[in-house]
Amino acid sequence: MTGAVPGPPGTVEVAGLTVAWPSGDDPGTAVDGIDLAVEAGSIVSIVGPSGCGKSTLLRVLAGLLVPDAGTASVDGIDVAGAPGSCAWLPQRDNLLPWRRVLGNATLGAEVGGVPRAQAEAEARHLLSRFGLAGVEDAWPTELSGGMRQRVAVLRTFLTPAPVLLLDEPFGALDALTRRQMQAWLQEVWMAVDGSGTGAGGGARTVLLVTHDVEEALLLGDRVVVMSPRPGRFTADVPVTFARPRPPDLVAAPEFVALRSELLGLLGA
Ligand SMILES: Nc1ncnc2c1ncn2[C@@H]1O[C@H](COP(=O)(O)OP(=O)(O)OP(=O)(O)O)[C@@H](O)[C@H]1O
Ligand SMILES: [Mg+2]
Repeated sequence: MTGAVPGPPGTVEVAGLTVAWPSGDDPGTAVDGIDLAVEAGSIVSIVGPSGCGKSTLLRVLAGLLVPDAGTASVDGIDVAGAPGSCAWLPQRDNLLPWRRVLGNATLGAEVGGVPRAQAEAEARHLLSRFGLAGVEDAWPTELSGGMRQRVAVLRTFLTPAPVLLLDEPFGALDALTRRQMQAWLQEVWMAVDGSGTGAGGGARTVLLVTHDVEEALLLGDRVVVMSPRPGRFTADVPVTFARPRPPDLVAAPEFVALRSELLGLLGA
């Protein structure tokens, strides 16, 4: 691929991306020729039925999976098989049970080469914004589901990378907690990244995988829709509501109309 491109960091380009998982007679194409261009500093929501390849796409961008065909790059640099360009929040929070809250929060930063003392100082600075003040020495088992997710998101934010890959960050939470977490995620993304502590001194690019169409619309600048396996992109819907978007936006007629459109595209 080409070298670094001008402009703010965090531009994502995916072209002709194909990943196969053969099993039995099934040639097993999981994702089939996906093209996606994401502007730096934007949030793209990705929705699609279970098994359509959403997590597979994020794993390629995380550098953990080499595609069978096509390319995936961040700022013009190929990321296939090369972790580090993106901070990845896997579908399950994957907190390490033998590390306390602070140790889990700093893990991505440490792996990314940030000295531990600096990572801890940055984590402590953000604890209260992440609703974790006072629990920095707790073990993961002592936390509620929402708190565990906030630790996992904090770990992702502290990872020094221009792109955040969030794979169903709130999927395991009850509806009310999920709404609170969505509002909170938008707030920290705007405040933490927008205030210049993001990798590029501005808001970071986010790819958000979700099953929740309202979450996709509340948080995304765009929503891309995937078909059932083999996953292809079937629609790309711009979302232009001003930020910050309040939780009660879900009741606004324009929002309801867009939600219906998306549900129709998903065949729901
Ligand atoms: N390690 C693997 N080995 C074999 N097949 C796999 C593997 N990982 C994923 N697959 C298959 O690839 C397809 C896409 O899986 P993926 O996890 O990306 O879907 P998803 O859209 O994230 O689903 P969900 O919404 O349930 O999380 C599925 O058919 C799945 O069975
Ligand atoms: Mg998944």
